[in-house]
Parts: sequence; structure tokens; C-alpha cells
Amino acid sequence: MCGIIASLSYSDNVSKDLISALERLEYRGYDSAGVAYLDDNSSLKRIRTVGKVQHLKEVLEKQHIKAHTGIGHTRWATHGKVTESNAHPHTADGVAIVHNGIIENYQELKKQLVNEGYIFESETDTEVIAKLIASHIKTGEQFFEAFQKSISELVGTFAIVAIYEKEPDILLGAKKGSPMAVGLSPDKQSGYIASDAVALSTLANELAYLEEGDIVVVRKGRQLSYEIFESNGQSIRRETVPNKVSLDDVSKKGYDSFMLKEIFEEATVARRTYEKFNYDIDISEFDNISIIACGTSYYAGAVAKYWIEDIAKIHVDVEIASEFRYRNPVFAKNSLYIFISQSGETIDTLCAMRLVKEAGIKTLALVNVDTSSIAREADFVLKTEAGVEIGVASTKAFVAQILSLLMLCYKNIDIKAVELSINAVLNGNYDFTRLANKIKNSRSLFYIGRGVSYPIALEGALKIKELSYISAEGYPAGEIKHGPIAIIDENVYTMALAPYDKYFDKTISNTQEILARNGKILLITTSDAKDLLHGIDKNDNVECVFLPPNSPLYLPFSLTTFIHLLAYYTANAKGHDVDKPRNLAKSVTVE
Ligand code: F6R
Repeated sequence: MCGIIASLSYSDNVSKDLISALERLEYRGYDSAGVAYLDDNSSLKRIRTVGKVQHLKEVLEKQHIKAHTGIGHTRWATHGKVTESNAHPHTADGVAIVHNGIIENYQELKKQLVNEGYIFESETDTEVIAKLIASHIKTGEQFFEAFQKSISELVGTFAIVAIYEKEPDILLGAKKGSPMAVGLSPDKQSGYIASDAVALSTLANELAYLEEGDIVVVRKGRQLSYEIFESNGQSIRRETVPNKVSLDDVSKKGYDSFMLKEIFEEATVARRTYEKFNYDIDISEFDNISIIACGTSYYAGAVAKYWIEDIAKIHVDVEIASEFRYRNPVFAKNSLYIFISQSGETIDTLCAMRLVKEAGIKTLALVNVDTSSIAREADFVLKTEAGVEIGVASTKAFVAQILSLLMLCYKNIDIKAVELSINAVLNGNYDFTRLANKIKNSRSLFYIGRGVSYPIALEGALKIKELSYISAEGYPAGEIKHGPIAIIDENVYTMALAPYDKYFDKTISNTQEILARNGKILLITTSDAKDLLHGIDKNDNVECVFLPPNSPLYLPFSLTTFIHLLAYYTANAKGHDVDKPRNLAKSVTVE
């Protein structure tokens, strides 16, 4: 959450690089954006705007800025409202900083700095960092030493970059808990520090990732260079890796949104994940499997529980990372712990994984970004092949996750059948606009399903709420009568996932119970069940959608693509920004 970028260049055009990086970082937060730079006279200037990066871009374009040194930030608010004064960068006596993370001891530091005479202008935890560095400079420290000392006084998680008007030829960065990469332009005329490879996709071909506690200095000499220091102050070489994010990955390729483009990639992603899957872990060696994740990744784990228990006959627990890490878990003997994360940066999943590692248990990470913190810290890594996912709502990554998990327990996958199920939805004649218009004004929505369709229902409800802002619940179809049925009336739509499988009749009975209470049903079933609907399809309160029949193993793939498209069209019908839903950010690096 929050995207950070810093640039130092022999050219005076850093504002262009900052803004292009911020546009690509926007998926990390879009409450406000800002830049600080050193002008021709090395004097610090700052521009901040509330809202999306586009506003900042418009303001910057009018100013024809010439600068060799600058930093930028796109914010997902943690401490303090979405206002210009809370927007980053924060400054003090010629120092400017941007920050991703949370400073837990900011109240104590603030008190101390107020006593020194500093006046605070924001409600953020971040502002203390700028003032702290300035306060150390005041006591005679050089910028680097002042930065280093300040970092050692911070408690919390952070990726921070700083510039200082009296030392215009360096950028400083520090990482603890939040990701940070450093790289140079191919002609070595510019150097960058950023939150991720996506930010630097058009700027740097090779990147080094900072490790916990590292500080990086980018400096001008005869050439631009950077140096990384470990927390003990020792200079250290961190491996450089190619920046694999291409321009293609960060463009919409003619679609109106990244989300739609990414849903339309689901079949290709499934094929690529299948072809590149090369992991010989033999899960039958384990007595238990625990899967830990957040959000959509957690639902992928919940899908896998049905498959692994059914096919491999191994007990599987699935747990939300933020709950797991704060209880005192009992580790079952001979267990495999799998951590699922698209970004590989979700702090709760990362910390849960560290807890398991501390207990001396081997960890397997299923991630989409192989340079991410979770990938780098796990004992074993299985990479999903979803490619860069930019839409804030995870779609194609979920498909890659469930397919990878299926491949862990089932070796004879018919990938053509998987592709066909997804493509049948993508290329079918489903009138999503009409369906979306039917459900978009519901007071609340339910998604119900049984068996493996239940976690898909959870994923469907999450997608609807995060994109359409309609209260939506995923529920086991058989459980609805144990309370939630009280909500049902003519203003509530229920999406019933009832493909023709062993649960079909039971789910149909549950939809009858809802219809008896005047609820409305969107029945998502398969065409081989057409003659088995007992007249339910004739009911005025029922709308039926028929997906192609398939082996029960592959039905979750067509259901997934369907619920993703329905969420996209519903949000669109409500006029929402599907790529940047309100209040959210893609990479959740705060607790
Ligand atoms: C929902 C969504 C989130 C993420 C969750 C975990 O559409 O995208 O719920 O799934 O924040 O993120 P990762 O997988 O990056 O750990």
C-alpha cells in the first residue's frame, strides 16, 4: 500500500519519470499523490493533490518543472484523512521524504520533536520521519548519518526514500517490512528507488531488491551508481535481476480497464500455469496441509481444501493470515504450510509465514511475483503464471492459484477442458449488462453454493462488494436457513451457483426456500441440468444462466470467469472505477 518512487538524473526531466512511475504505482493506493523535487537552485519544492495521480499530472504539466532530483508518492491513507496536508511528501528544513508502511512509535517521536520546536502540519505518522532527519542534521550530522540514525529510531514497517536540498546529488532509501527495489537506467544517466518492478518497467532493466534493514544510497559521481548497506552499516552487494515487467504488461491493450483485460487473459493464464508448472513436491508425504492467505488468495486455498481432501485424502486447514498470526497456533506434526499471495507482499501472510519458519517448519509460497518478500523468505516457491495483475481486484491470479493447487494433488489435468470452460464464458452469449442491471439496485446480495462452489461463492461476493459497494455475502447454500434467510425479501438477489454435480439437487432445494420468501434468484447452472429444474426456471423471480457442462473438477473455472465478469459489469453499471475501487489498494503491506 502506498507507492513510492525516487529519481536522480543527469537530465533535468525527473518529473516525467516520477509521474510515469506514479501512474503505474497507482494500484497501491490512490487517495492522494505528490512529488517533491530540487529545482535549478537546489531549493526544495513540493506539489500534492488529493485524488488520483491524473490530478497531480495535470498540475505538474502546467509547471514545466526542471529538476535532477525528486521523489513521488501515491497514498493509501492509514493515519489521517485524505487531505492535501496529509499527502506525501512530508518535509522539514529542506528534507523531503515519502513513506510506505506504519511508524508505530510516531507519537513518542512527535512529542520529542514538538519539544525541540518542530511544528507539525499533518495527522500522519510519516511526518515525524522528515522532522527526525532534519533534527539530526541540525546537530551536525551529514544527510546519510542523520538518515541512518533516524531509521534506527523507528519502530514499525517502512519503505522510505529521502532527499535533502543541501546534498542534491544523492537519494537515500531504507527498507523494513515494505518492499523496495533500486535500479539504473540502461544508459546509467538516471537512478531510481521504487516500491516495485512495475514502477520501473520503462525505466530500469535490472533491479536489486533490498533486504530487511538495508539502506541504499543512489549517488552521482563520474557515473550514477548505488550502494546498499546492511543494518550493521557494512556495504553489501545484493544480486541484480532482470526487470521482467514489460510495457505490454502495464498497458490495457485496447480494453477499457485492466480488470477486463485480465479476466480475458484467464484461459491463457491457465494454459501458461499448466505448461510452466514444475514442482515435484509430493504432498502425499504429509499428514496435514495448512493453507494461509488473505482475501481472494484465501478463497483459492478454500477451493483447494475440497480438491486435496477429495483427491489426495490429506487433511487440509485453511486460515486467514491475520487471525493465524495472533493466536498461539498448535503446529500439527508432519504438516506442509502453504502461503498463497498474488503480490507476495501481504504483510499478514508474510508475518504468518515467519511464525511458521520460526517454529522450524518448512514453508511453501504460492506467489505471482517471484522477487517478492514472501517468495524470497519461503523455503520453497511455486510461481503462478498470471503475469502482472494491475486491476485492484484479483481475477486472473485466482485462476492461476486454483489451477496450481489442483496440480499439486492431481497430475492428469485436461488443460484443454479448463481452457474450454473459461473460453465458453468469455466468448459465450451471456447478456452480462442485462444481468448486472437486474442486481445492481438490490439492497443486498447473496452468493450461495455447495461443495467447491461454496468458496467460489465467497469469491463472487467479495468481488461484488469491493467493486459495486453493495453489501454481499457468500454463504454455504445449506446454511442460509440457519439465520441469513431472515434478510431475504423481494429486494434481495441471490446468485445460486448450482452446476450439475453431486450437490445440484440440494442447492436447488435451497433456492426454493429463498423463492418461497419472495427472494430473487440468479441461477447459474449448466446446460445438462436444463431438464432437471423442476419448473424453477418458469418462476418470475428466477433468471437462469446455463454454462457448458463439464467434469465437476473443471466446473470451478467456468464459474470463476462468470462471477468475475458479473462483478465487472455490475460495477460498470453503477459507474464505478473497476480498476481502482474506493478505499482499496492492491498490495496490502500494512496490518
Ligand atoms: C480481492 C483481492 C484481495 C487480495 C488480498 C490478498 O479482489 O484482490 O482480497 O486477494 O489482499 O492479496 P495477495 O494475494 O497479494 O496476498
